[in-house]
Amino acid sequence: MTLIDDAKQLAQGVLQAGMAKVVALAPDSWVPGGTPDPLIRHQHGHIGKPLSRIDGPVKVSGSAPFAAEFPIETMVYAALAYSTIAKGRIVEIDTRAAEAAPGVVAVMTHRNAPRLKPPPVFLSASKAAGGDNLPVMQDDRIRWNGEPIAVVLAETQEQADHAKSLIRATYEAEEALTGFAQAKTRGTRQGLFMGEPLHNEVGDAEEALVAAPVKVDATYRTPRHNHNAIELHAVTVAWQGDTLRIHDASQLVSHTAWSIAQMFGIDEEQVVITSPFVGGGFGGKCLWQHQVLASAAAKMAGRPVRLVLSREGVYRIVGGRAPTEQRVALGAGRDGKLKALIHEGTTPKTSANVLPEPFILPTRSAYAAEAVKLDVQTVELDMLSNTFMRAPGESVGTFALESALDELAHALGLDPVELRLRNEPEKDPTSGLPFSSRHIVEAWRAGAERFCWNRRNPAPGATREGEWLVGMGCATATYPYYRMPGGAARITLTREGHATIDIAAHEMGMGTATAHTQVAAERLGLPLEAVAFNYGDSTLPGVVLAGGSQQTASIGASVIAAHRALVKELLKLAGNDSPLAGLDPHEVGSRDGGLCKLDESERHEEYASILGRARRDTITVEAAPPPPLETLHWSMHSHGAMFCEVRVNAITGEARVSRFLGSFDCGRILNPKTASSQFRGGIIMGLGLALMEETQFDERSGRIMNPSLAEYHVPVHMDVPDIDVMWTDIPDPHTPMGARGIGEIGITGTGAAVANAIFNATGRRIRDLPITLDKLL
Ligand code: MOS
Repeated sequence: MTLIDDAKQLAQGVLQAGMAKVVALAPDSWVPGGTPDPLIRHQHGHIGKPLSRIDGPVKVSGSAPFAAEFPIETMVYAALAYSTIAKGRIVEIDTRAAEAAPGVVAVMTHRNAPRLKPPPVFLSASKAAGGDNLPVMQDDRIRWNGEPIAVVLAETQEQADHAKSLIRATYEAEEALTGFAQAKTRGTRQGLFMGEPLHNEVGDAEEALVAAPVKVDATYRTPRHNHNAIELHAVTVAWQGDTLRIHDASQLVSHTAWSIAQMFGIDEEQVVITSPFVGGGFGGKCLWQHQVLASAAAKMAGRPVRLVLSREGVYRIVGGRAPTEQRVALGAGRDGKLKALIHEGTTPKTSANVLPEPFILPTRSAYAAEAVKLDVQTVELDMLSNTFMRAPGESVGTFALESALDELAHALGLDPVELRLRNEPEKDPTSGLPFSSRHIVEAWRAGAERFCWNRRNPAPGATREGEWLVGMGCATATYPYYRMPGGAARITLTREGHATIDIAAHEMGMGTATAHTQVAAERLGLPLEAVAFNYGDSTLPGVVLAGGSQQTASIGASVIAAHRALVKELLKLAGNDSPLAGLDPHEVGSRDGGLCKLDESERHEEYASILGRARRDTITVEAAPPPPLETLHWSMHSHGAMFCEVRVNAITGEARVSRFLGSFDCGRILNPKTASSQFRGGIIMGLGLALMEETQFDERSGRIMNPSLAEYHVPVHMDVPDIDVMWTDIPDPHTPMGARGIGEIGITGTGAAVANAIFNATGRRIRDLPITLDKLL
């Protein structure tokens, strides 16, 4: 971003901050969530059931169509060639051999690609989906090492891959800035997140630190990480007349349709994106160059195109997590109460993206400290734009913060659980807002008991079984409740008592379709079999991002709004002959296939009866929820207490996690079965973050050196113990359904819980992730 873009973002931030003050002071009843959702109390038995995935059978039978599995007549296969320099220009690109290779249909480069506008970068507009705002194959410029320079289309994938290998480019390289340390010597800039500075100050924390009787002050480093969803990024695209149909693997279909329409200069309605199944998103399945290149090449060649990125391709063109250097300094009294809390540091981004890794986010609401200083500085490198990745901010921020808490507990000679309980805040320590619901103390107590935390020997390196040093560690997990604007849902109800919910939401494997079939059935008072939940299609209502652990809140609020609209319409149709006659829509809810008075449920009429009397076969309503002002009125977060037992081999330095427990406080749990998988999946990612994940980035050339799962290690079954999860299940009175997000919290706190267990096992404090065995020898 340029300085002008920064200034615009900042101005927007100031506006938001002004509105935030007004909303903070408003009475509860003016704010969405001010009146608790009646479904927190009225239960028909669907919510909270451990229902198995409704999409399970099609997935295990292999009949669920993923983006690269839609067959289209006359379709061709694409392969990409990537630049091998970080900055400069293409002098010559020789495509003759590729064009002459067997099966090749066309080769697209900047010389013949259709003219396109740059992608709208995420957050620059309400439906912007781009990971950056760089032109896509429009000129001879090279902006990062790995940028696509050519698309080959051929009759088979093998022919495309072969022909791509025949492309020869010569470059005029310019000096690129690819070293983090080198960039820092040129100065840093204030990091911004959603238009607001990543900076908070309460009192004078540096002064309070100097004066504190007990202190720790250390620097923690986390490496680059890359997205590695099981399903590779893929699209199958076809131009049908002026309409562009894209089968994508997406966590934001409506945003992507709008953004691609902007790039091609066509109407939003001319781009139709479907994404019924996604093999993992994690922040990476947004708009990158592959969807655009496939669409442009399909247009150029007049043939439908399938483009599946190779695993290397995902590393070359899909942004990941940037590295961080974080200082955490804690000053405490001898009682462990924090007097100073400092969390600051630096992370690189590019000039074309909007997301510095916001590692101070978890610290904003974590602990009561008398003085606080939080700050993120950025530098800009010539690299692939980094992006949202698995709890951006919280996953690496909690590693630093929660490691430092453990160091402080050790310095104080205090139990690390007790240290956290002693610093539990009454209200949000930086915003001053009341918490919507915070039962982290219960989560800590219940978790400590279940994990048998009292068996931990506080002396580091003191527990040995043969060659294995055994230790236990803990850490706080936290992730915000978000609900982004743009939700909307349509409900169609038939006289036979069948309901269809339409919303442009996403199922990326987390159980959305299952949980929201339950939610909709519960709200409508229908059996599960009578509800169909349609999603993953940009022509459906709503602009819903499956990210920020907020999709469930967004869908839930939208279904509530549509249900309220349905009640209103049905009451009109019911008329004066109904037992419901004269009731205000607010007094009416659903049960047993019909409407009833909420506090007098025997005043009831079935949908079939209402629609029959009105001579209607179906009724359709669509509605949008109010804007998400609740997040400006309360401090809203999911919480967790993470417990880890680790065994470190005294001879080889190998670390093995032997037990793990996540004890969560995330509001009402809608489906314990799918929720458990969400928690466990996050924790497994956290184990990878702690022990193995690291992108090897050659700081001389800006090239990623380990773009494969052979060289970029993620946990496999042998690395993962039986992970235990539990939760408070205390509904948050201020969220739809009483639920808060559960998608990302599992990866937060986990890195520190492992590092702290390793310290307890060995006496070695490792502040640089990943904790590989060389660091323990
Ligand atoms: Mo998540 S990183 O917001 O998809």
